[in-house]
Amino acid sequence: MATSTRPAARLLLCTVAVVFMLFSSTAATPSPSPSSSNKTHDDGHGGRTLSFTLYQQETINKTAYMVVDGVAGAGVSQTTTPFGTVYVFRDNLTVHADRASPVAGVAEGTSITTSLDGLLSLSMAKVTIHHRGHRGSVSILGGTYNIGPSDYPVVGGTGDFAYALGYVRSSPVDLRGSTVTYKFELQLYWPPYAQYAPTPPR
Ligand SMILES: *[C@@H]1O[C@H](CO)[C@@H](O)[C@H](O)[C@H]1NC(C)=O
Ligand SMILES: *[C@@H]1O[C@H](CO)[C@@H](O)[C@H](O)[C@H]1NC(C)=O
Ligand SMILES: *[C@@H]1O[C@H](CO)[C@@H](O)[C@H](O)[C@H]1NC(C)=O
Repeated sequence: MATSTRPAARLLLCTVAVVFMLFSSTAATPSPSPSSSNKTHDDGHGGRTLSFTLYQQETINKTAYMVVDGVAGAGVSQTTTPFGTVYVFRDNLTVHADRASPVAGVAEGTSITTSLDGLLSLSMAKVTIHHRGHRGSVSILGGTYNIGPSDYPVVGGTGDFAYALGYVRSSPVDLRGSTVTYKFELQLYWPPYAQYAPTPPR
């Protein structure tokens, strides 16, 4: 529905859209992973990389809710929300853009409108992934731009994504209808020596 395409909805989506992971292992050499997971690959510089794409499926008043109304600035429109608006979401992440495709994870987080023009927000999310043998979570924190792609720094992870760095690019795929779909591209990197870092016991 058009209403759900509101900026708020978009923010949410943006924050966490992840969908289908295609491992674009950039390096040829399989890395000697410290753990049992060998999902990553040597980047040729002592680090490892992993990239994949998933799709965040968000439906207003079903997987995402406005929990605090904004207080100033722009009103609620297709691309804006009032300053101070708070959204909370728990969106499934599917393997393909089709919302009926297999679920590979979930994005849980919140988004707060931080500009008076209503176009910007601060978003944070925990993205839990179980796909193609990878299991764990990635935490992201960054700004959402309502009318364009948003890049979120990866601030860390758990499980197979422990010590991951990098970024996630979220961009809208389909803003029509009650469910909004966001493409969620993860570009992860483990710097040299990360393999020697301690990890929580399984
Ligand atoms: C979501 O629920 C709120 C509160 O009931 C309502 O005002 C709003 O129109 C709903 N939005 C959509 C897109 O259904
Ligand atoms: C993953 O790593 C294990 C142990 O290092 C190895 O035996 C296995 O073949 C690897 N699997 C893949 C798909 O590379
Ligand atoms: C999200 O995925 C879970 C697990 O597949 C499923 O049980 C749930 O119904 C999905 N939620 C929505 C809103 O589609």
